[in-house]
Amino acid sequence: MSDLKCCVVSCDRPIDAAYWDAQYEAKTTGWDLGQVSPPIQAYVDTIANKNSRILIPGCGNSYEAHYILEQGFTNITVIDIAPTLVTVLKEKFKNNTNIQIVLGDFFDHQGKYDFIIEQTFFCALPPTMRQKYVWKMHQLLSDDGILAGLLFNRTFESGPPFGGSKEEYEMLFKDTFDFLKIDVSKNSIAPRANSELFIELKKNSLISVSLYELEGIMCSGCMETITEKTLAIEGVLNVSISNNFAEVLIVSKNEITLKTLEQAIAHEEKYKIKKINT
Ligand SMILES: C[S@@+](CC[C@H](N)C(=O)[O-])C[C@H]1O[C@@H](n2cnc3c(N)ncnc32)[C@H](O)[C@@H]1O
Repeated sequence: MSDLKCCVVSCDRPIDAAYWDAQYEAKTTGWDLGQVSPPIQAYVDTIANKNSRILIPGCGNSYEAHYILEQGFTNITVIDIAPTLVTVLKEKFKNNTNIQIVLGDFFDHQGKYDFIIEQTFFCALPPTMRQKYVWKMHQLLSDDGILAGLLFNRTFESGPPFGGSKEEYEMLFKDTFDFLKIDVSKNSIAPRANSELFIELKKNSLISVSLYELEGIMCSGCMETITEKTLAIEGVLNVSISNNFAEVLIVSKNEITLKTLEQAIAHEEKYKIKKINT
């Protein structure tokens, strides 16, 4: 999997805009396929409405966007945090009014999309951000919106890329999305054969999805207790805590009041919970 290594410039740095920009400047872009990813190409071919609003976060060199444009789609947005890359993209697509190129952080982005395409963006984020990713995807999708693309079905020694498993993703996206598909991809490029899952997840717009900052949780034992106590609140469907114990994603039939959540974790004075707003 040497083609996946992007941590060439330095791994001892935060994985932020400067990190990614340095990879593009140094041309250490081992993840770059140089072509549209075949499973995504095949998926795009099934989308009938050419005016669908499509977002590609962490778009990189945007071979997927290029393919989508070639098929006659009229409303594509790509976003990436690396200025060096985005300058190149703006030049590459400068005469095309069917694509919006945004330099920015996906987590600050606002909009509504019918489809969001995942291609080595999730795996590029620190795993501590996975709950935030689910929350943000849910927000950006229209009521029947779909998150489709590829997730790694394997682990890596260090990252990025950061891997995962089908079981982990099923827990993470549970109740926030309906699983239309989460299967080993049959048409991945050769170096990634049998190591990618193709996902097609439909937004569940009948539920409330909220993200909170947590304070005071130091171990997985405390995490399990908090999860148990929060799940016991009437109407709560799923509770997912980030692996640094700093954030919790709560999926519920109706939004749970902060007071109810505070009461549920009040057995330890040091535990604090605070809502994260858009
Ligand atoms: C592993 S690369 C994948 C690029 C592209 N999807 C591909 O497959 O070639 C991850 C991309 O996500 C971008 N990125 C990382 N964090 C981001 C964020 N918070 N918001 C937007 N883009 C981000 C990086 O700049 C980089 O281009």
